[in-house]
Amino acid sequence: MTLSIPAIESAAEAAIAAIAVASNLDDLKTVKIEHVGDKSPIARLNQGLGALEPSQRAEFGKILGEAKSAIGAAFAKRQEQLEIERDARVLLEEVVDVTLPASNAHRGGLHPLTVIKNEISDYFLSQGYSIAEGPEIEAGWLNFDALNIPADHPARTMQDTFFIEPIESGLVLRTHTSPVQVRTMLNEKPPIYIVSPGRTFRADELDVTHSPVFSQVEGLVVDKGISMAHLKGALDDFAMKMFGPDAITRLRPSFFPFTEPSAEVDVWFNNRWIEWGGCGMVNPKVLETCGIDSEEYTGFAFGMGLERTLMVRQGIKDMHDIVEGDIRFSRSFGLGL
Ligand code: PHE
Repeated sequence: MTLSIPAIESAAEAAIAAIAVASNLDDLKTVKIEHVGDKSPIARLNQGLGALEPSQRAEFGKILGEAKSAIGAAFAKRQEQLEIERDARVLLEEVVDVTLPASNAHRGGLHPLTVIKNEISDYFLSQGYSIAEGPEIEAGWLNFDALNIPADHPARTMQDTFFIEPIESGLVLRTHTSPVQVRTMLNEKPPIYIVSPGRTFRADELDVTHSPVFSQVEGLVVDKGISMAHLKGALDDFAMKMFGPDAITRLRPSFFPFTEPSAEVDVWFNNRWIEWGGCGMVNPKVLETCGIDSEEYTGFAFGMGLERTLMVRQGIKDMHDIVEGDIRFSRSFGLGL
């Protein structure tokens, strides 16, 4: 391409015309490559400058410079217009109608067992108790021996207890929440007022009423002058909280190695007595094992199954419903959030 004034003028005119008709930013990009970029006619004319005489070079250089800046200005102006147009269009196209009904998003919810556990914790906190926790993998000594459960007690056999290998570790999956009593008494001085909800394990088959993984809530009070009357009062109030104002409890004599005397707790609900849990006065032997003077202090303890409490209260017939985690089951209890 020979460098001449008409060549420069026609390259500039072609560029400016193409810029003017570019109808969107994509078009404008193509126009830039063809008419403004390194391989455009104007750029190639510019390369011809080097071959000119110095006097001509200055003259053509000036004309080329003016042409290039005219093209550049036209380009910048068109680009600005097209950007404004694009922004206006995007605002319209992407408008969100906030008045449209929302799509039905599925919210998560708490499992009913968690709900009842929270409910129990909140209730006891309101009564001045604290929440205590212990590990699910527990020392056999805390799960059994410290609770006065002797080595030959049937609860310690393979049929009931999950042992952790190697067997010499002495570890078990806790079979009840009672080891939390021991942990608390070993670490804290009376007065002690705690509840301990948590998961427990026994080598049972899963059926309509049993699960090898289940939950209990343990209660423990150790203070001066604590009697069985306090235990009964605490249980009655707890029962009313869980089962409504008509609930009362009755105690039936029973045996647990860690309480003396011991009792089964039944609760009156829906016009019948329901077995609810175990309880008793903390065995002085257990207090002494934990370094508490049994002459000065007495205490009571109780333990109930959370699944059982939930099943009785809600009329749930099958343990499978609780363990399977089907959202349709949980949802029937409301979200519980
Ligand atoms: N730990 C007993 C059980 O699992 C329940 C219990 C707790 C009984 C506290 C008495 C006192 O069966």
